[in-house]
Amino acid sequence: MLILGIETSCDETGVALYDTEGGLLAEALHSQADMHAVYGGVVPELASRDHVRRLVPLIAHTLERAGRPIADVDLIAFTQGPGLGGALLVGASVASGIGLVLGKPVVGIHHLEGHLLSPLLSEPRPAFPFIALLVSGGHTQLMRVDGVGRYAMLGETQDDAAGEAFDKTATLLGLAYPGGPALAKLAERGNAKRFDFPRPMLASGNLSFSFSGLKTAVLTKLHALGTLDEQARADVAASFQQAIVDVLAAKCLHALERESLQRLVVAGGVGANRLLRETLVARAGAIGAQVSFPPLALCTDNGAMIAFAAALKYPQGARGEEGFQVYPRWDLGETAQSTPRR
Ligand code: KG4
Ligand code: ZN
Repeated sequence: MLILGIETSCDETGVALYDTEGGLLAEALHSQADMHAVYGGVVPELASRDHVRRLVPLIAHTLERAGRPIADVDLIAFTQGPGLGGALLVGASVASGIGLVLGKPVVGIHHLEGHLLSPLLSEPRPAFPFIALLVSGGHTQLMRVDGVGRYAMLGETQDDAAGEAFDKTATLLGLAYPGGPALAKLAERGNAKRFDFPRPMLASGNLSFSFSGLKTAVLTKLHALGTLDEQARADVAASFQQAIVDVLAAKCLHALERESLQRLVVAGGVGANRLLRETLVARAGAIGAQVSFPPLALCTDNGAMIAFAAALKYPQGARGEEGFQVYPRWDLGETAQSTPRR
């Protein structure tokens, strides 16, 4: 079955062709990061308009790279939520239009479920059950995953998401939006031991997170330091990154132990962070557990994870609705069939 995946929930237009026999055939991505950087964050109206401009050419490009005509597509998958309403509608309407013309089914995919299942795109494919750490710009969640659509929330952030904390701290350091990757790069030259930032909720005994205090601690430190030289900036970045990674890694280990599981998968944009990857591999390895990540390029938003999630969910009966709907606010609850907030 040949699946066209479309992702337009935020500031990336992602398209991919996934073949259930042959794997990922082609993918294309356009990031709007530069466009939004001038405003210091995503401007929803501009995001929607850019998806309108980019999506159809990207689909044509992806089909061409795979050497497949659109008539070969058996199933069209799009991100149905959560995300920016107008941006989601672009993907939904193009997907539905293609479905109508081809007479092929269209399915809406939960963005976080796309992230969550994306580590299964890497080899060796991790087996169920496992603990999933979902760390993106909007979410920080630990889940127990017993199968496709069988997700139990173990803990999540009470305020900022990990990616949001990276981005906000990066802004404090004068780095352009979205600053997470730039902060990580700056941290490579820094001394992570120089500033002892708090590890929020490290000893809370539960699997909840809180990152807004950490960002405030950085702000207070920056005020106290006054003008920063290049080394001090790098040291702040490295010390902040170490604090956030320490908390994420400790909670992952706690979740593995609590659920008596030996497998951890990491998904979402912050999963691209090198220190996080290395720390999780080392600390999970020390207790005999394995860690899987999606291929690096598939950590952040992309169309491949949407096509792939559809490949797993369609055989389970996932079907599109009449007309099309998007759900800007939609919890990935106990199962993927959780009721969207309309
Ligand atoms: O999953 P994603 O692409 O979009 C959302 O669904 O939110 O995640 C984007 C987030 C941003 O906050 C970005 O700064 C962060 O992931 N991110 C990173 C790195 N690469 C992306 N944070 C830290 N280190 C990185 N290398
Ligand atoms: Zn995402």
